[in-house]
Amino acid sequence: MDYIITTERLTKKYKSFAAVNNVSLNIRKGSIYGFLGPNGAGKSTTMKMLLGLTTPTKGSFTIDGKQFPNDRISILKEVGSFIESPSFYANLTGEENLDIIRRILGLPGSCVADALELVGLSEFGRRLAKKYSLGMKQRLGLAGALLGRPPILILDEPTNGLDPSGIHEIRNLIKSLPGLYDCTVLISSHMLSEIELMADDIGILNHGRLLFEGSLDELRQNALQSGFTADNLEDMFLSMVDKDNVKRKQRAKL
Ligand SMILES: Nc1ncnc2c1ncn2[C@@H]1O[C@H](COP(=O)(O)OP(=O)(O)OP(=O)(O)O)[C@@H](O)[C@H]1O
Ligand SMILES: [Mg+2]
Repeated sequence: MDYIITTERLTKKYKSFAAVNNVSLNIRKGSIYGFLGPNGAGKSTTMKMLLGLTTPTKGSFTIDGKQFPNDRISILKEVGSFIESPSFYANLTGEENLDIIRRILGLPGSCVADALELVGLSEFGRRLAKKYSLGMKQRLGLAGALLGRPPILILDEPTNGLDPSGIHEIRNLIKSLPGLYDCTVLISSHMLSEIELMADDIGILNHGRLLFEGSLDELRQNALQSGFTADNLEDMFLSMVDKDNVKRKQRAKL
């Protein structure tokens, strides 16, 4: 199997608290990998480690054959990211905001128009960012991640705060990306029902630990074996998290 991102027992501790605990991920090249977990599961922390924004306490990872921390700069050149809510200069236009990121990355000028086009913002590129709707700001954030069409995209809840039609639009856009150009997408979410509409593979995280990793089909098989219907994966996901929480509480009492 051709994996583009692998993590090996990746761990992040804040004092004695393990936000990410021995997580080993295997992300296939060209796939959309849904990284799922409730609030505080450790999704953003994992993504921040992959982006070099926070240092692992233990473990290691490889991105496109490059090993962290040795190849940190070359890793960053290959990854476009959207972490939590991206911030912009309110008094600059969408286009100007993207141009700042483009210059930092040393990319050609044509990248800005290309990224605006990819996210469907071409006609609003000259509008001030402060006049963008929430959905347009999310799109601008995605455009920032897509500058230069990087082979890997790390998107932390890109549909956060959007209305149902905004969620639908962004989901379709993300789903289309590996077909538009050859890329791999790691995307986080709280909701399996949302992620199952676009992801090929799923990783489920709870309290820093990986509870499941596999394809959507494997998850459906798992659901059937656990007595859930394959068309209601959300219930199985919630039950998986609940069971894990009960186990953790029992372990804590011992
Ligand atoms: N700098 C920090 N210092 C201490 N604890 C932290 C720090 N950053 C994150 N944490 C803790 O690590 C845990 C995981 O946080 P993280 O933001 O990775 O979760 P998440 O899965 O992204 O959650 P959400 O879905 O709410 O975004 C949480 O308990 C959080 O409070
Ligand atoms: Mg988060």
